[in-house]
Amino acid sequence: MDKFIVTGGTRLHGAVKVCGAKNAILPILAASLLSSGTCVIHNVPLLQDVVVMTDVLKCFGARIKWENKALIIDAKDVHPAEIPEETVKKMRASNLVLGPLLARFGYVKIPYPGGCAIGSRPMDYHVKGLQQLGADIQDGYGFIEAKSEGLMGSEIYLDFPSVGATENILMAAAMAKGVSVLRNAAREPEIVDLARFLNRMGAKIDGAGTDIIQITGVNCLGSVEHTVIPDRIVAGTFLLAAAITGGDITLINAVVDHLEPLIAKLREAGVSITKNGRGIRIKGNKGLRAVDIKTMPFPGFPTDIQPQMMALMTVARGTAVFAENIFENRFKHADELRRMGADIKVAGRIAIVKGVEKLTGAVVEASDLRAGAALVLAGLAADGVTVVENIFHIDRGYFRMEEKYAVLGANIIRVTKHNSNPYQFENFTSQREIQFPEKKRLSLIKIN
Ligand code: EPZ
Repeated sequence: MDKFIVTGGTRLHGAVKVCGAKNAILPILAASLLSSGTCVIHNVPLLQDVVVMTDVLKCFGARIKWENKALIIDAKDVHPAEIPEETVKKMRASNLVLGPLLARFGYVKIPYPGGCAIGSRPMDYHVKGLQQLGADIQDGYGFIEAKSEGLMGSEIYLDFPSVGATENILMAAAMAKGVSVLRNAAREPEIVDLARFLNRMGAKIDGAGTDIIQITGVNCLGSVEHTVIPDRIVAGTFLLAAAITGGDITLINAVVDHLEPLIAKLREAGVSITKNGRGIRIKGNKGLRAVDIKTMPFPGFPTDIQPQMMALMTVARGTAVFAENIFENRFKHADELRRMGADIKVAGRIAIVKGVEKLTGAVVEASDLRAGAALVLAGLAADGVTVVENIFHIDRGYFRMEEKYAVLGANIIRVTKHNSNPYQFENFTSQREIQFPEKKRLSLIKIN
């Protein structure tokens, strides 16, 4: 398993461009199954999850190629098929093919996507919404099978503004007969990007980005060219990396409106954030104040930035109370941060983070992509060396994080099993393998 070796102590500085949004491209790729033409998509992030989703599309006969850094999808000859179970287990977002395939073929059967480290992640809101559009859904024995003689527009109310359920219902209703109104819809920027993509294909969707979305079904959706929005979670991770290292960085193309919840909390903590012609500039400083965090659906504080914010709060002045209101089990990173000297107490969906003077490098494990990113940030601020294991989680949402952060001065080395010089250190005179004491605190190991 690949690892990151993170050497702390450098204040990040410089400017960086934010890649396309993982949580926008995944539903957009699923929506390309609705097209009877060709989809040309720009600013596609080169992520493991994107590779998995393109494999899913190929299962259904889509032809995919890269040309001049754009992803080109020919969905003319798409047909019903089965997705391998291991693919769905690898990535929950493969459940987003439900809506488009039901709308296009009146039939889809996918293995039930399992839960993951952060929660059980059921699909009841998806199923209920599609049933209200007229689908007959069998949900059991490890599969979801949906059939329809023709979807009919309907009034749909979501018990919770689920992002995925909103996306599946939007894609299904886009080709249903008549008008659908979706209430208590998710308002995330990725929903707006999906609706923009669908409307460019010929759909008629109004109100995306608000909690009431109206969709007037059409018979056919055609070709489209689209540029994916920047990734607000990747952008927020950079902001927190600057804050935790006391650095000074500029995000070149981040969309400020997508980051307001985080910017507000960082300012409350005492971080200086300014918006200029180039983008967003953040200057971290020592002695940040602890702030309380409640994760909420957009425009509330994003759950996908909660772990990274917790890393920052471990070295803030005072005590921060975290309430994780979206997922039932999203504090696994707390155990790992404690291994680095953090003072965190967890009780269900509440975590109490008491700021400490300093974190110390340790061997820690990533449990999901955002928890992994949080541990890298903690390592950048810690004394000594931190080994982050299971970084395949991080690769799902961050393209070559070590290279992106090296541009800002971070010292992160990727160690892969085939690497001839594992644990290479730039600041050591000679290099040979170092046996890290498993699961113990690390002090900096000098070799000559
Ligand atoms: C999307 O997941 C994102 N993934 C997640 O990002 C993000 O954390 C989440 O939205 C919340 O913002 C993608 O967009 C690919 P939900 P999704 O449906 O759609 C419960 C990351 O790190 N729920 O809004 O699966 C669910 O269990 C990932 O990039 C039901 O109970 O999230 C959760 O507790 C992690 N029944 C809550 O709702 C359902 O039918 C929010 O889930 C659906 C969801």
